[in-house]
Amino acid sequence: MDRGLLVLVAILGLLWLSNGESVMKYGAVGDGIADDTSAFQKAWENACKGSSKTGSVHVPAGKVFLLNSLHFTGPCIPKPLLFTIDGEMIAQSDPNKWENGENGVIPWLIFDQVDGLAIVGRGLLNGQGKAWWDIHCRDHPGPNCIWLAPTMMTFSNCGNVTLKSLRFRDSAQTHVLVMGSQNVYISDIKITSPEASPNTDGIHITSSTSVSINHSDIAAGDDCVSIGDQVNNVTVSFVNCGPGHGVSVGSLGRGGTEVAVENIRVWHVNFTGTTNGARIKTWPGGTGYVRGIEFFDIRFSSVQNPIIIDQFYEKGSSHRESEIHEDEWNIGYKGGNEA
Ligand SMILES: *[C@@H]1O[C@H](CO)[C@@H](O)[C@H](O)[C@H]1NC(C)=O
Ligand SMILES: *[C@@H]1O[C@H](CO)[C@@H](O)[C@H](O)[C@H]1NC(C)=O
Ligand SMILES: *[C@@H]1O[C@H](CO)[C@@H](O)[C@H](O)[C@H]1NC(C)=O
Ligand SMILES: *[C@@H]1O[C@H](CO)[C@@H](O)[C@H](O)[C@H]1NC(C)=O
Repeated sequence: MDRGLLVLVAILGLLWLSNGESVMKYGAVGDGIADDTSAFQKAWENACKGSSKTGSVHVPAGKVFLLNSLHFTGPCIPKPLLFTIDGEMIAQSDPNKWENGENGVIPWLIFDQVDGLAIVGRGLLNGQGKAWWDIHCRDHPGPNCIWLAPTMMTFSNCGNVTLKSLRFRDSAQTHVLVMGSQNVYISDIKITSPEASPNTDGIHITSSTSVSINHSDIAAGDDCVSIGDQVNNVTVSFVNCGPGHGVSVGSLGRGGTEVAVENIRVWHVNFTGTTNGARIKTWPGGTGYVRGIEFFDIRFSSVQNPIIIDQFYEKGSSHRESEIHEDEWNIGYKGGNEA
């Protein structure tokens, strides 16, 4: 082999290594038809173990990846682990092709026990949720209707997470779920789902501390941001909300649970065409406290109930019907299943 050829081989080798973290390396096809779930799973496992050169996962632009439920489990060696999404990821659209969830969550993309994670990029997550909405009990009651559908991106027991710039569309249920996590920074994201889609919260936070959401646009069928039991230190700032059900603290204390919610700041938020704006809703019978809640510089335009504080949530309202169903599937992570 002559010298020139050796140099060429070396350069090609380096190029290959520097792209080594791409999901394509793990056999992903990216044509929107082939199921790329196992390729993504392998890419994650390798990055998490610290085996890939860069300790990262890259989803390339210009491709569409069809994916079923993915469990991105830690702890991982690289801190932070970098997950760059430039392409489009679409969820399997047929509800019959999903497995049952646990703890009231059917995850599409779940990050579990990861400390140090940065998810960035200009890509799109498309939940293709319509088939799930079409069998949801709220609008389609019947023996085979469902209350529980996949959540798009879940952080469970994670710490030090950055989520930036991504676009989220048409989740089957909640778009971003933060539970049992600390230090989560969400910025510059865009969430879009139809106003009529059931339970499609933008971001739901529960049992977590220190979460910030800023410079984001959220249009959804349920709350733009909702805050559940046991949450401390949340800032929501520079957010456009609408359509949707507003920014809600609650519903809290469902079934008599212990509530500890404090230090919630909602600043510079525009509500446009929402059913509610600033809302606090608690169930009768819950115990604990809700304190240090601040809504500041909020603007309302075409909002039905700009400010609501409801301490008798779902009692005496039009929700009696759904309450009966709710009790049957009482595993949900979110207090009320709608409204
Ligand atoms: C996050 O980072 C801080 C500072 O580096 C560290 O002290 C903490 O243990 C990390 N993990 C969590 C879960 O916050
Ligand atoms: C509150 O949360 C922010 C992130 O939004 C974090 O930077 C700050 O350190 C937290 N404050 C306390 C007292 O934990
Ligand atoms: C918004 O979040 C980003 C990313 O965490 C941060 O750099 C920026 O300072 C935040 N801006 C405001 C106004 O809080
Ligand atoms: C909210 O609306 C005001 C007035 O139209 C605008 O100046 C401001 O930039 C908007 N806020 C956000 C977060 O876009």
